[in-house]
Amino acid sequence: MPRNAVPHRAGAGLRRLAGGVRRARTVSAAARAAVSRFIAPAVDAATVRRVEHLVAQQRATGQDIGSGVDEAVFDAVSLRARRTRVGASATDDKWAKLFVEAFVNLYHDDLDSPPTPLVRKAIVDQFHRLYYHDRGTWRETYWLGTRIWKCPLDLWLYQEMLHEVRPALIVETGTAFGGSASYLAHLCDIVGKGAVVSIDVDDAGDRPKHQRVTYIHGSSTAPEVVAEVTGMIESGEPVMVILDSDHSENHVYNELNIYADLVTVGSYLIVEDTNVNGHPAFPEHGPGPMEALDRFLAERNDFEIDESKHKFHMTFNPRGVLRKVR
Ligand SMILES: C[S@@+](CC[C@H](N)C(=O)[O-])C[C@H]1O[C@@H](n2cnc3c(N)ncnc32)[C@H](O)[C@@H]1O
Repeated sequence: MPRNAVPHRAGAGLRRLAGGVRRARTVSAAARAAVSRFIAPAVDAATVRRVEHLVAQQRATGQDIGSGVDEAVFDAVSLRARRTRVGASATDDKWAKLFVEAFVNLYHDDLDSPPTPLVRKAIVDQFHRLYYHDRGTWRETYWLGTRIWKCPLDLWLYQEMLHEVRPALIVETGTAFGGSASYLAHLCDIVGKGAVVSIDVDDAGDRPKHQRVTYIHGSSTAPEVVAEVTGMIESGEPVMVILDSDHSENHVYNELNIYADLVTVGSYLIVEDTNVNGHPAFPEHGPGPMEALDRFLAERNDFEIDESKHKFHMTFNPRGVLRKVR
């Protein structure tokens, strides 16, 4: 690749920047002109200096600066968006239009290659936050009339996992309305195998009844509850566990240590709602499932994160689907 050629995967904005660089006599002037055109008035002197430095680096080394420029542009635009509170109030029409246009231009299906990881993450995380914090999305999701507090993309992953593993027992901590227990039981009907045991500290009497579902009233970490669940396991049959009760770090960590041993090799242990505490939703939550998961994984080597479960881009359980490997 010629030294000052910008790799195509860097996207349209950067290719425009490259055009500017090639036409100009000095890197500095080119970067200033091209970057100002690219992100128009959102760019400040510090960003120009940052991009100038990157362009000089590319000229000297031929190194790919795609993500570096992405990052500089993102930082400049987010700073300006935060300062002008465009997302919240859009009081200044000019800024609102500029930012929306920039956001829309992050992804184009006519780009000759996929967006960089940074761009992809920005798009997905923004949609994730919008979806998560809207009160009419997961809080208003129903399975055959019963509320189910899950993202439909994750429910589809459950269908795939059940078909693959064909568990004899699915242990769910955190029943709430019973929508997820009912959903899993109906999948078991289709697969032709399996039972669900769902545990909750609240004993709501009006949960859906299904012959494959057993509800247990109590705390998921109480020894008598754990003993009852353990007694339901048939020797040699696959067991899957879903942790979806109290989402504080310590509770999830305790659940992980109790229930991980029930999961059979080749099956899954799912830690729900690892997205809270800013991963990327609900930043005020405080340490939760993701932090518990990190502690657990640092101490064990019998589980691996199943990266393939990130395939739909947005999941409420990032890094939260673990496969037992030994
Ligand atoms: C996120 S909701 C469960 C959502 C449900 N699995 C679904 O997908 O629709 C969490 C539930 O955990 C229950 N819970 C809280 N602490 C618990 C504990 N220590 N043991 C068992 N359940 C608990 C709450 O009462 C609440 O119903």
